Amino acid sequence: MRWIQVFATVVGVVTATASNSLYLPRQQEPDYSQLLDQLSEEAEVLVNSTLVTRDLASDYQLITNRWSQLETPRPTVVVVPARESDVVVTIKFAALFDIPFLVYNGMHGSVTTLGRMDFGIEIYMGKLDNIQIAADGKTAAVGGGTNAKKLIDALWAAGKQTVTGTCECVSYLGPALGGGHGWLQGRYGLMADQFVSLNVVLADGSLRTVNANSDLFWAMKGAGHNFGVVTSATIKIFPRVYTTWAIETLMFTGDKVAAVYQAANTYLLRNGTQPVDVINWSYWFNIPGFDGPVVAFYIIQEGVSTVNPAYTQPFRDLGPFSIEPATGTYRDVSAWVGINLDAPPCQKAGLSNPRFPVYLERYNATAQAELYALFKTITAGTSPFANSLFMFEGYSMQGVKAVADTSAAYAYRGDNLLTAPLLQYTPAGATRDAQAKEYGNQLRQVLHRGSGRSQVHAYVNYAYGDEGAKGWYGADAWRQDKLKALKNKYDPNRRFSFYAPIA
Ligand SMILES: Cc1cc2nc3c(=O)[nH]c(=O)nc-3n(C[C@H](O)[C@H](O)[C@H](O)COP(=O)(O)OP(=O)(O)OC[C@H]3O[C@@H](n4cnc5c(N)ncnc54)[C@H](O)[C@@H]3O)c2cc1C
Ligand SMILES: *[C@@H]1O[C@H](CO)[C@@H](O)[C@H](O)[C@H]1NC(C)=O
Ligand SMILES: *[C@@H]1O[C@H](CO)[C@@H](O)[C@H](O)[C@H]1NC(C)=O
Ligand SMILES: *[C@@H]1O[C@H](CO)[C@@H](O)[C@H](O)[C@H]1NC(C)=O
Repeated sequence: MRWIQVFATVVGVVTATASNSLYLPRQQEPDYSQLLDQLSEEAEVLVNSTLVTRDLASDYQLITNRWSQLETPRPTVVVVPARESDVVVTIKFAALFDIPFLVYNGMHGSVTTLGRMDFGIEIYMGKLDNIQIAADGKTAAVGGGTNAKKLIDALWAAGKQTVTGTCECVSYLGPALGGGHGWLQGRYGLMADQFVSLNVVLADGSLRTVNANSDLFWAMKGAGHNFGVVTSATIKIFPRVYTTWAIETLMFTGDKVAAVYQAANTYLLRNGTQPVDVINWSYWFNIPGFDGPVVAFYIIQEGVSTVNPAYTQPFRDLGPFSIEPATGTYRDVSAWVGINLDAPPCQKAGLSNPRFPVYLERYNATAQAELYALFKTITAGTSPFANSLFMFEGYSMQGVKAVADTSAAYAYRGDNLLTAPLLQYTPAGATRDAQAKEYGNQLRQVLHRGSGRSQVHAYVNYAYGDEGAKGWYGADAWRQDKLKALKNKYDPNRRFSFYAPIA
């Protein structure tokens, strides 16, 4: 429902009482009723919930609440486009009045550069979530605001699959624009490798179809957040091959850390030749009754009802304190590792959730043991970070490595492991935030030192925010130069610069 009268009143009030306004930004904002006039009937424009509490079709809390409370963006107006043309109108309006804007999709973006947005327009994408499978069954057109779980289920119902994020609550495009990791990447490559063409609204409000014929296509696959609003994506989809998946979860105490990761290198990772049907993840976290975080080692296999003992036996031999097998379908895998819609990581519970990612080629058992000792100290007892999680994600890599390294802005196809501490805590001011940053970087440095590398490879979608463009997009001069040249061409005024910006 449109509520232009209410809105006009609100704008009037704010203009008249600028000194005590709840939401007036540092500079005078334009009359947004002019924007509303140009939008489709189903589109909405919302302002601060305390001023507008009734007659909203969209739930204000739902479309503004973020997963992490650290360095959140602070838009002052929400636009909910219902059509592609609404995005065009909104970006043109923002350009005309020089108002910052930011896309909100699943609201799981947590990079601290988002905190630089201190007023302006949130563009909430949720109404653009149409999914259409092409007649030939080889591609699907996916709306720019489509949720991952919705896409997985729609394809499943049609006997199809593609690479999506593993986490059910994130959007499809948020992860994909940064490369995008998922359970099926060993088969087909990264999420961004599935792009066939993208409808993109550029910084000047022009709508482009970006495909392999455009120089922008390269940038959209890994640095896409920096270049435009994707209103829809045509992506490759595939016939579902296996319905059954299996997992074995082995839980270890901390004294087994070095042995567990030595075994992971030997029996699973095999220097990037991990079998395509196998995924191994592990998490470290505290549970009551243990001295130090436990190691939950997940070995997941596609197409079987029991994980092949060739993969699990070496880990069973190390003496886990629990072994739990499970069988189900592809749609159960996210729940097994605790990232389904109902799981704690999917909740927006008012916590700060910085991650400090580093990609690695292989585990260094010595570094893992050192890391464990530090993580144990940081999360011990009544520490404000006691609920933290250390994530080690070992997806299969064949599909990712099969795609040429130069083909996309995503820079890290050579790496086999995605690791990161997630320091979870209740917001408590700047001192606590600084402490989290210090600890997170200390943990990351242990892994980085163990890698013997000079440059930290950071997954942009897990980034803390201090890694810089070389960390997010690769330090190679050709990559940085190419990104900057494209940025100068397509976004000279740096309007898309809140999410891990290219300099
Ligand atoms: C619980 C959890 C699980 C995760 N699982 C995975 C995973 O399995 N694989 C993986 O690769 N990553 C994963 N991530 C990281 C994820 O990629 C990022 O958090 C990502 O930013 C989430 O996107 P979003 O739409 O939910 O967040 P948002 O904050 O809404 O979006 C993040 C940014 O993406 C950009 N953006 C989003 N949609 C569009 C669009 N249509 N057009 C242009 N720009 C857009 C905007 O710049 C926006 O600021 C996970 C994160 C969490 C918290
Ligand atoms: C775990 O994943 C890593 C990264 O792909 C791989 O090197 C290792 O062999 C895997 N371990 C198992 C047991 O599959
Ligand atoms: C791993 O593979 C890479 C490239 O395939 C190779 O250069 C490297 O020497 C291998 N490392 C080990 C320890 O086998
Ligand atoms: C493993 O990590 C340790 C500790 O940082 C380091 O001294 C060692 O050189 C690393 N080993 C390899 C093979 O990089």
